[in-house]
Order: sequence, then structure tokens, then C-alpha cells
Amino acid sequence: MQSDETLLHDRPGLLAQPQAAELKAENVVVRFGGLAAISEVSLTVRRHEVFGLIGPNGAGKTTLVNCLTGFQAPTSGRILLGREQTTGWSPDKFRKNGVARTFQAGRLFREMTVLENVEATAVGLGLGRRAAAERAMAMLDWIRLAAQANRIAGTLAYTDERRVGIARALILSPAFLLLDEPAAGMSDGECEDLVEWVATIPQRFDCGVLLIEHNMRVIMDVCARIHVLDGGRSLAEGSPREIQENPAVMAAYLGMEA
Ligand SMILES: Nc1ncnc2c1ncn2[C@@H]1O[C@H](COP(=O)(O)OP(=O)(O)OP(=O)(O)O)[C@@H](O)[C@H]1O
Ligand SMILES: [Mg+2]
Repeated sequence: MQSDETLLHDRPGLLAQPQAAELKAENVVVRFGGLAAISEVSLTVRRHEVFGLIGPNGAGKTTLVNCLTGFQAPTSGRILLGREQTTGWSPDKFRKNGVARTFQAGRLFREMTVLENVEATAVGLGLGRRAAAERAMAMLDWIRLAAQANRIAGTLAYTDERRVGIARALILSPAFLLLDEPAAGMSDGECEDLVEWVATIPQRFDCGVLLIEHNMRVIMDVCARIHVLDGGRSLAEGSPREIQENPAVMAAYLGMEA
């Protein structure tokens, strides 16, 4: 579609999309005092795939995403973006190098308009005002929120709020997008809609997606590969089918759903 083409090919030179093919955690450990929130976890998110990260509450999913985006320094182990070591990188440096995320809680500027919210992110990352406004509008068009551009963000429906959050993360064409429970609090139908839309992101934006989501049906539907954490440790990684048939996963995680 026309607007998608614009988003993909009309990138400002200054912000050409990084080319890293993988975002990788290698033997990552995170300790908070005596608690090991993450123990020796290794995983690789590839471009052009939706990679699922699942596990019970407190499994360490958010902590791992924090490591992959510079919000948490691993106690040991390392994060690699392509061939680059990211040790010491700030969240801002991750963002500028093409690693974007959303948070479990919305974090929109609630008193600003929808358009201003998306624009502000782009300006904050170095885009000029006019380019930021144009890109923000194209993005809102793509997520079908153009009609709400001038609405105060705090008055949006929950599902629309989440879309704006993802638009903000996508505005500078990241190479990797990490979504921490984007559908939390939604009905099953709303969750399915949102996740189906998320599943189109890798092809449209040339971007790998890491998706944390508790609804097993949607995660099995859209993910190429799934990594399971439990108590900070890797329990399994594989295709949706392999994960569904893994006895340890069923005992630790899927069993809880039944
Ligand atoms: N800043 C922190 N200080 C101390 N402990 C923390 C901190 N952040 C997380 N933890 C602990 O680390 C563990 C992993 O937490 P984390 O939030 O990563 O889990 P999660 O898998 O995202 O859970 P949820 O599904 O509830 O979002 C938990 O025991 C949590 O209490
Ligand atoms: Mg979490």
C-alpha cells in the first residue's frame, strides 16, 4: 500500500535503518542483591521474524528485555547487536542504533495529542520538526489512527493507546522492536487483533520483533520461534509445535493455564 511504501523507502538519510541481522543475548546473568532474576540466558532475535518470549509471572521476561534495550546492565554475559558489543550503551544509544521497545505500562504523554506523542519521539531522536510531523502522520495513517491525530492521548481507548505506543517505537524504522505485553488488559478479541497486526511488522518494516504475551493461542499463531523462561532460566526454545509438545514447558507454564 502507498503509505507503507513511504514508510519503508522514504527514510531520512541521517536515520538510515541499521543493518544488523541479529540481536543477541549471550550467557546473560542479572542479579538483584541475592536474587538471580536471569541465569545464563542466551537467545537470538532475527530480522524478519516474530520471536516469542514467554514464561510465568516473575520469570525474568521484562528484565531480559531491559538488558536487550540498555535499561539494565547484565551482571555478566553480553548483548550483541549484529557484531557490535553493546556493553555500556545507554537506552538512547540502543534506540539510535535501531533497537526500540514498548513498556508494560503505556508511558504516553497523556496531556499531549496523539500526533504530538509520535512526533515528540522522532524529534527526541534527532529528526527535524517538519520531517518528524510528516513521518508521524504517515505512521498514524498506517495504524489507522489518522482520524484521531489531534485527540488528547489520555482520552484514547486502551487498544488505541497501545497502537500509539507501538507507532512511537516504530517511527524511526528500528531494526528490532521489543514489545512487552502489548495486549495486556485487552479482551481475547482485541488481543488477537493487535497481535495479528504486530505479525505484519517484520515484512512491512524490515524489522525483527520480540513479543512477550501471555495469551498462548496468539503467541503460537504468530511466532516463528518461542523461548520459554522459568525462574530466570531458559526452559526451552523452538517452534510453536516443539514448545507445545515440550513436557517441561507444559509442566512449568502451559499447565498453569489449564
Ligand atoms: N529492579 C529490580 N530490583 C529487584 N528485583 C527485581 C527488579 N526487577 C525485577 N525484579 C525481580 O526479578 C524477577 C523477574 O522479574 P521480571 O519483571 O523480569 O519478570 P517478568 O517475567 O517480566 O514477569 P511479569 O510476567 O509479571 O511481567 C522477579 O522476581 C522480580 O521481582
Ligand atoms: Mg514483565
